[in-house]
Amino acid sequence: MIVGLALSHDASAALTDSSGRVIAAIGEERLSRRKNHRGIPTQSLAALLELVPPELEVTRLVIGSHESLPSEDARRFLADLDDQASNPRGTARQARPGWRMPSAATPMVAVEDAIRGIMSTTLANASSLPIVWQNHHLSHLGTALGVNSSAPTLLISLDGEGDGESGAVAVSDGNLMRVVGRIPAADSLGLLYSAITARYNFTPTRHEGKITGLAAYGASSAAVDILRQHVEVRAGIPFIRYPKSFKARLLPLALRRLKPSRGVILTMDDIADLAADGTANYADLAFAIQQVLEESVCEMVDYWITRTGLRDIALAGGVFSNVKLNQRLAELPATRSVTVFPNMGDGGLALGGIWSVLKSEGGLDAGPLYSDMFLAPETDQFDDLTMRAAAAQFGLDFEAVAADAIAGRIAQIIVSGGIVGWHEGAMEFGPRALGHRSILLDPRHRESVDSLNARLHRTEFMPFAPVVLRERFNDYFETGNASMQPFEYMTMTCTVRPEFHSVLQGVTHVDGTARPQIIDADVTPNYYNIVAEFGRATGIYVLVNTSFNTHEEPINGRLEDSISALMADAVDVLATPAGFLRVKAAQ
Ligand SMILES: [Fe+2]
Repeated sequence: MIVGLALSHDASAALTDSSGRVIAAIGEERLSRRKNHRGIPTQSLAALLELVPPELEVTRLVIGSHESLPSEDARRFLADLDDQASNPRGTARQARPGWRMPSAATPMVAVEDAIRGIMSTTLANASSLPIVWQNHHLSHLGTALGVNSSAPTLLISLDGEGDGESGAVAVSDGNLMRVVGRIPAADSLGLLYSAITARYNFTPTRHEGKITGLAAYGASSAAVDILRQHVEVRAGIPFIRYPKSFKARLLPLALRRLKPSRGVILTMDDIADLAADGTANYADLAFAIQQVLEESVCEMVDYWITRTGLRDIALAGGVFSNVKLNQRLAELPATRSVTVFPNMGDGGLALGGIWSVLKSEGGLDAGPLYSDMFLAPETDQFDDLTMRAAAAQFGLDFEAVAADAIAGRIAQIIVSGGIVGWHEGAMEFGPRALGHRSILLDPRHRESVDSLNARLHRTEFMPFAPVVLRERFNDYFETGNASMQPFEYMTMTCTVRPEFHSVLQGVTHVDGTARPQIIDADVTPNYYNIVAEFGRATGIYVLVNTSFNTHEEPINGRLEDSISALMADAVDVLATPAGFLRVKAAQ
């Protein structure tokens, strides 16, 4: 068995068999309750090691990125190894040309010692376990292999920055994975997007999705051309035009000393400032960066498809959390299929490290490496006794409901305007709630969606996402020739059929798109039945699915987290397979 870890932004842990088949994977924030947890994923690691049976042993540990923390972060990292508060890193202000990886001696050995220390309570061979540090973007490319590790595929990774790079391109076929292009951090489209996100006080690396949603409200402005002047694609590799070498920076530095002016470009932030000056409002600026990102990545993908002849592309890295960009790529005439690894950001590196190392050794299992993302070990019990005990402990009402009646009862509550928090089974691995920790409500009323936004203190420009039965998908949505994989994990937008724009008000964006999740009865039977029962009652086989958590918190992990959310009034009722928990009515 192999353990994989991701240590920085979105720390996570994974366990696979010796050929890379997933046994379990957990994002640390779900357990630590610290959003985008940074550091060693202590709790996830401990939970996964409990799954290793005595007759089997862990043969190695793969860390899916080099320790690429700038020295300031590295010191903090070492000072408080297992308890890093969220601290989004990699904003454009910090990414400067000339940035170098810290020397290998900085924290790697200390980090290894700390990890061995944690593992030694469970593993006899912890002190001698081989540890492999895999490159950041090779690990992202590794996650892209997950959909089908042996099919001929063009793999593309794009993010803010990792190990001094912002992306890579590779060709995968059978046992081979060959990197054909690499993109320096200084030319990071992800960091440029973050530089724009940082205007108007949004948080870079966390709020990019809001900018993507806002873009639909904007229009073309001078900012589009300003960005186009600074971003180009040269032989399939993004290139951002600003002075990167010491020599090239001398003249603009001198000019700026002489007379501070917006026209002098030294960094990506200066480009963002210049673009901001060319817009009347934030929506237009969001439109501009979204437009230029889409154009650039489409040009890049077109280049590599022509160059390699591969039309099936697999994507990973934080840039591909951009659901609109992914739709554009799927719509390119040149692409045949587009897939996105569901945990596309750095949280996925725990698995990607393992997969890319095995691939390079010819030891990776052939075919799909996962069948769903419900990858955490199941810890909650949903029997009557446990639920009654939980109700007593937190002063809640519990109503037991028979297993064959639960879906129908939940549908009834939703039809009558209720907001249901649904909690069951294994936690999802990745940034999306896929129906095991989901808030469900009626998609037909804008008002109920607005009221939920108010209850969750949520400001979003993108509406909530719909969930739909797979066989009903085409009734409501149009995708052209996109493959369905992205819709299983909510990683792509598509068009809502015009006749349903007014019906599905709660989930249709101003540009007529939505970000649907398709579900199957054999993957999540309870979740499927809830949507099916709602459909039987209303004729609409769609619900709103949004992540079950309180404002800016990680998605709920254990049942206690969902109970806290109920008590914080995020939902009207907490529904589990055993029945309903509710706050007691005032006497
Ligand atoms: Fe990354």
